[in-house]
Amino acid sequence: MNLAEISPRPRLDAKAFDSLAGEIARLKTERNAVILAHNYQVPEIQDVADFVGDSLGLSQEAARTEAEVIVFCGVHFMAETAKILNPGRLVVLPDRDAGCSLEESCPASDLAALQKSNPRFWTIAYINCSAEVKALSDVIVTSGNAERIVKAAPKDRDLLFVPDENLGQWVMEQTGRPMTLWKGNCYAHVEFQLEQVLAAKREYPGSPVVVHPESVKAVRDLADAVCSTEKMITFCRNHHARQFIIVTESGILHRMKKACPDKEFLCAPVQDVMKMPGDSCRCSECKYMKMNTLEKVRNCLRDLHPRVELPQAILEKARHPIERMLQISALPQENAA
Ligand code: 13P
Ligand code: SF4
Repeated sequence: MNLAEISPRPRLDAKAFDSLAGEIARLKTERNAVILAHNYQVPEIQDVADFVGDSLGLSQEAARTEAEVIVFCGVHFMAETAKILNPGRLVVLPDRDAGCSLEESCPASDLAALQKSNPRFWTIAYINCSAEVKALSDVIVTSGNAERIVKAAPKDRDLLFVPDENLGQWVMEQTGRPMTLWKGNCYAHVEFQLEQVLAAKREYPGSPVVVHPESVKAVRDLADAVCSTEKMITFCRNHHARQFIIVTESGILHRMKKACPDKEFLCAPVQDVMKMPGDSCRCSECKYMKMNTLEKVRNCLRDLHPRVELPQAILEKARHPIERMLQISALPQENAA
């Protein structure tokens, strides 16, 4: 295995990029728009964005922006969260069909039925869920603040964590708080398996292994750090090592290389990843995140479509648990638990 040979797919050629980026910059001014992009977006989208970050950073940015239009380059639940937090803005996303396997695993009607079975449940929802599920929840978490928010959860209630069983299991390990876990997972992160990550570790001894908590326990247990995509970047920046094995979606490598140009980032391989013709990449890619392209960013700015719109009642109900999350995240550490 030679991980150094593994690289994400080629970008647009320079001429095509410059032409689209110029058009996007012009439309952005005309529309008074801001472009927010998740760390898993393709490099060319990250390069035109005003802000690139993890789910927590993007929510904070969406809540505070004064731009009239938010172009949300991520998946649908993220754009919905931006709309919930800042309903006066027009929110568009490049591809309406950019979903998430975690969101799909947890229909609101199934959650409501489970909640009825135990009135003592206090529901903690990972932000990777629909607005309807958020509206049924007591608090929202991201991978960047889940541990802190679960520590602050009421001690006299039964905690129900939806929809990611892997993140939930990791948070239980970190906090010692028992929780009932919904049986959902991220189809892309569970592709990372013990054997491949162990082989990468053997091939590159001394390179810290940095793992996203949506990964399975056997892989998390090999990690030097388990954290959100944003904290992964901070970890690598502050660590003295020159080379890292990264266990998450390969889009993150672009930001890591920009943040630490003198370091090397090796994307952990997955076994059964679908390949594009002529693609030698064995990295994990989220097919939903990769539905967005620079052309679609231009189109949604030009057409102000597809838009995220939600019923008023859902907007209002879903806002409370997200705001509770943002408030706890903003507290000094010692007051949060
Ligand atoms: P982060 O919040 O860590 O960026 O994770 C989002 C996500 O969808 C991971 O798969
Ligand atoms: Fe959802 Fe996984 Fe894609 Fe993140 S990487 S958006 S959790 S399917």
